[in-house]
Order: sequence, then C-alpha cells, then structure tokens
Amino acid sequence: MARSLVWISGASGGIGGALAKTVPWDNARVIGINRERPAAAIEHLRADLADPSTWPTVGASFRREVEGFHGEHVAFIHAAAPTDPIGFAGDVESEAYLRNVLLNSAAPQVLGQLFLAAVRSLAACCHLIMLTSGAAQSVYPGWSSYGAGKAAIDHWVRNVGAEQDQRGSVQVLSVAPGTVDTAFQQRLRDTPEADFPRRQKFLDLYDQGNLSDPQDVAAQIWALTSLDLENGSVIDLRKLDLPQSEKPV
Ligand SMILES: NC(=O)c1ccc[n+]([C@@H]2O[C@H](COP(=O)([O-])OP(=O)(O)OC[C@H]3O[C@@H](n4cnc5c(N)ncnc54)[C@H](OP(=O)(O)O)[C@@H]3O)[C@@H](O)[C@H]2O)c1
Repeated sequence: MARSLVWISGASGGIGGALAKTVPWDNARVIGINRERPAAAIEHLRADLADPSTWPTVGASFRREVEGFHGEHVAFIHAAAPTDPIGFAGDVESEAYLRNVLLNSAAPQVLGQLFLAAVRSLAACCHLIMLTSGAAQSVYPGWSSYGAGKAAIDHWVRNVGAEQDQRGSVQVLSVAPGTVDTAFQQRLRDTPEADFPRRQKFLDLYDQGNLSDPQDVAAQIWALTSLDLENGSVIDLRKLDLPQSEKPV
C-alpha cells in the first residue's frame, strides 16, 4: 500500500522528470501527466493539457486515487508548460496562441481546483505546487501569453493559499525555479531574435554555464515541502535562503 501519492504534470520534461525521480517520501506512487511517456519508472496518465476536454480525466484520477487513501503525503506539482508559440502576439498563429493560453493559464487553475476538491477531506499532509517563472514579473517581448499565464498562476496561488489558511489544510505554493538546463531553455536559444529579442541573455547563461541542473532544482522544490512557509507564497528559488540541512548536495 502506497504511503504517498504524487501527481506531476510535465513529468516527461526536465524539471518534472527530475521531480518524478526524486520524490522524498517512502513508498510513493507517482503519476506523470503529459503526452509522452516519462523516462522515470512511474505511472503515466496521457493527457494533452492544452485540450480542456482532458482536464476532467485528470480530476477523475485525483478523486479515484484519493478514495480510501490512508497514507501520509499527497501532492500535485504542475510543471507542464508550453514552449510554443514564441513570437509577438500579433504575429503568431492564433490556434497555437490559444493552446498556449489554455495550458499555461487556465489548466493550472482548473487542475488545481480539481485537486483541492479531491483532497478536501483527507487527513494526509497535502501540497499543491505550481511552477512559475521570473517572466511573471519581467517583460519579455515574444513571451506575452507565457508571462501572463505565470502571473495568473502566482495570483491564483496567493488567493487559494489564503483560502486554505482559513478553511483547509493544503499547502499551496508557486515556485520559480530559476534558469534550468532543459529542453525549454534549448527552445529559447533556438528561437530567432526577431521573435524573442532577449534571446542573447539565454545564450549567455548557457555559454557561461549558468543554468541549474534539474536534479538540484528538484531537490530544492521537494525541500520546500518540509519548511514552514506562509501558505500562498510565491517563491523564487534563487532568492530563497534554505537552511543548510535542506540544501541539495
Ligand atoms: N527551464 C527553465 O529554465 C524554467 C525557467 C522558469 C520556469 N520554468 C518552468 O518550469 C516548468 C518545467 O519546465 P521545463 O524546463 O522542465 O520544461 P520542458 O523540459 O520543456 O518540459 C515541459 C513539460 O511540459 C509537458 N507539456 C508540454 N505541453 C504539454 C501539453 N500540451 N500537455 C501536457 N503536458 C505538456 C511536456 O510533456 P509532453 O511533451 O510529454 O506532453 C514536458 O514534460 C514549466 O512550468 C516552466 O514554465 C522553467
């Protein structure tokens, strides 16, 4: 019988994949939600999260697995995010832009709500973690829906964290991982400067060896689950001073 239950969207990608391989709890059942089968030896719920018709399937998974669960930890980490389209809003293809908005902005709120509803009567320690980005606050031409979606996630987390403080027990966090060496970063480096004028910044970070390792970032994210953080916190891992004992090796 599993002692912990973890869903990770984007588990086939860099940070989500590293999170799936490094769950800190014993006897964990891990379910990856995305389109491709994750490399980690975990269960897979295939879903194109840019398609809202898949969201109820994820909600059904939350409800089904939580029923009769008597373990200690339950978590949902939303790491799935679109890379495309990158380009000025008036230039990109409208269908691709719509998919970006749905996956990046609407999916986290709706899936987060389904998770909160599924776990509301559980005695387990529950965590809901959204991956955000510095792009929620900085201006990056070419990244309008990405930055807007991350800003929406952050504010959703602030509100829902305050709600859980009043009535609930789920710890809700938004976590910006910094710049991490994943396919997502590769995509930025491959984008023409006309579509993403601040591309050089990301080329420099890569050339200077300043991208973080996904495994180190995953360890930092998991470490947050054992800290006493204000519910609804929006955290930038680069600015967080973790206690020495919580720092990844
Ligand atoms: N890497 C960075 O420097 C960085 C910086 C700031 C924030 N972040 C955030 O960190 C998170 C993880 O980023 P990453 O760098 O690990 O990205 P990544 O390597 O590009 O992986 C993205 C993940 O999202 C999934 N995904 C994409 N479209 C999907 C869809 N339509 N339906 C379901 N899943 C989908 C992919 O799975 P499938 O293709 O199998 O569906 C993949 O597992 C994202 O939220 C990103 O915004 C990353």
